[in-house]
Amino acid sequence: MMALAKLSELLSDAKSRHYAVGSFSVANMEMVLGVLKAVEETNSPAIIQIAEVRLKQSPLEVIGPLMVAAAKNSPMPVAVHFDHGKTEEKITQALDIGFTSVMYDGSHLPFEENCKNTAHINALASKYSADCEGEIGCVGGSEDGSENIAINCTSPDQALEFYRNTGVDALAVAIGNAHGNYKQTPHLRFDILRQTASLVPVPLVLHGGTGIAPDDFRKCVSLGIHKINIATATFDSVEKTVRESYEGGKISGYYDLQAAEVEGAYLNAMKHIEIFGCAGKAI
Ligand code: 13P
Repeated sequence: MMALAKLSELLSDAKSRHYAVGSFSVANMEMVLGVLKAVEETNSPAIIQIAEVRLKQSPLEVIGPLMVAAAKNSPMPVAVHFDHGKTEEKITQALDIGFTSVMYDGSHLPFEENCKNTAHINALASKYSADCEGEIGCVGGSEDGSENIAINCTSPDQALEFYRNTGVDALAVAIGNAHGNYKQTPHLRFDILRQTASLVPVPLVLHGGTGIAPDDFRKCVSLGIHKINIATATFDSVEKTVRESYEGGKISGYYDLQAAEVEGAYLNAMKHIEIFGCAGKAI
């Protein structure tokens, strides 16, 4: 059995071998099982995550231990990550449950405050030997679609200053990406990504993975992105697979429905693992 993996270990291998690790948002056991099935079948590392805004539907005290147990039982290296942490209370709860990394999202705050709060959460995570991700600039939209946050692209110089002030293990950048389904094809600012990666020594993170074209993903990976967050695409794939299974007469009871949910999460994870160059990279 593999040990529960740390974000920094997974991302450092991804950086040295030029691929990105998929960070898949999950909302229930079926999604966890679907992602881990894909991970095992492709011999890949992975991250499973849940964002603080999603805890209304999936309480942390219930889904958190499930995620940690599933990762511990996987034969592949799997990190368990708390996504878009907003409050110290919930971040601490995730760390107590055994999450191996947390993100503090202070991207909407003034620069100094974002630095101060992120450094504080990084110090807290270190007490648990856990890693910390921060965000500089503003990724568009919000994780649950409840807010229409405008995109504010990362300034590479500010990203460097942010890294120096906080010591984060991974840094989320805003390069024209946004959460949820894109209304128009996103035009990613590869120039900003290239410049940021040349200044900041830690792996960079791309949020808002749903709807980004495969070639754009590959280009991002070649320029310094080593963690890619995927949420909406998983939820959509689960919903679509369930709907098509009903339409195809494949569901005649609860456990067929459950199997379709697992399948939906599995298919989506398989697709992204291949694009990210992550297949076969488990160590
Ligand atoms: P999407 O919902 O666009 O895939 O974004 C996921 C994300 O960035 C979670 O933090």
